[in-house]
Amino acid sequence: MKKKISIIGSGNVGATTALFITLSGIADAVLFDIAEGVPQGKALDLAEACPLCNSSSTIKGTNDYSDTEGSEIIIITAGFPRKPGMSRNDLLHSNADVIREASIAIAKTSPDAIVIVVTNPMDVMAQLTWKTTGFSCKRVMGMGGLLDTSRLTAFLAWELNVSPEDVEAIVLGGHGDEMVPLSRFITVKGIPVTELLSSKRIDSLIERTRKGGAEIIALLKSGSAYYAPAAATFKMVKSILLDEKRLLPCAAYLNGEYGIKDIYLGVPAILGKEGVEKIIEIKLSKEEKAQFRKSYASVRNLIKKLSI
Ligand code: APR
Repeated sequence: MKKKISIIGSGNVGATTALFITLSGIADAVLFDIAEGVPQGKALDLAEACPLCNSSSTIKGTNDYSDTEGSEIIIITAGFPRKPGMSRNDLLHSNADVIREASIAIAKTSPDAIVIVVTNPMDVMAQLTWKTTGFSCKRVMGMGGLLDTSRLTAFLAWELNVSPEDVEAIVLGGHGDEMVPLSRFITVKGIPVTELLSSKRIDSLIERTRKGGAEIIALLKSGSAYYAPAAATFKMVKSILLDEKRLLPCAAYLNGEYGIKDIYLGVPAILGKEGVEKIIEIKLSKEEKAQFRKSYASVRNLIKKLSI
């Protein structure tokens, strides 16, 4: 039998993540949602795609948490997406209620699971999930930095007309307007990007990355991005499930790393079968440190509002 991955929230991000998982064949999936019929209908549709992709994964849609029992990995995408003009932080209170409910349920049905939180504002929702489930911090993380990094990588690849495979970048800090893209660590096949692009151009691509989510929302007019968020979530899932030990930016619990304690924030981490197996500390310059602290302050402020 394949390992089981449950996805809480069968909307755009949840269902697309389920698509990546089931078509890859690496696990069986359960799609949960409070909307009756939606997870069942999407699961049936996905199951009917599997034979076309030579996948033997099974997928079940449900409104009953007991079907998620014994999951190896739980992905939380339940909650509300942004509307045009909204920041991720505007979703704080509505999504906190959803996260509390989901966390209580999964702690009962899958007490040994590793949890990836996608719901926004993601860093705060990861902290809330960790607190509510009572899980070890190694087993709770958030998806955000990898998505931001992928956006930056795409913009750089288009600008330089090279394959995105040859671009390396990393975005740290909270998954919000104060995210911290580190231009010092952008390379193209090992060549520092500063040798290929002017700092003005690099800064404008970084600025586009900061507003990457909002750019898509403005075009869609209803709903927010889901293909890239789902692809980033799947990459994290794969590293954990297959114990790949990829070094990926994600929201992890900081306990003194980067001089910060008791908070979830985006950092580079090794993801493997134990979850967040190691946080990698980069020595930040004075300016980078200031940006990181600013991002920290913004997440901390939201955490205070929720009194967690
Ligand atoms: N329990 C389970 N599912 C819920 C609950 C709940 N309490 N409340 C809402 N949902 C479900 C909705 O029924 C819906 O199917 O969550 C799903 C959300 O799907 P979408 O509205 O399509 O939102 P999506 O684009 O998937 O984004 C979900 O991920 O990237 C973040 O900012 C985004 O916070 C948002 C989340």
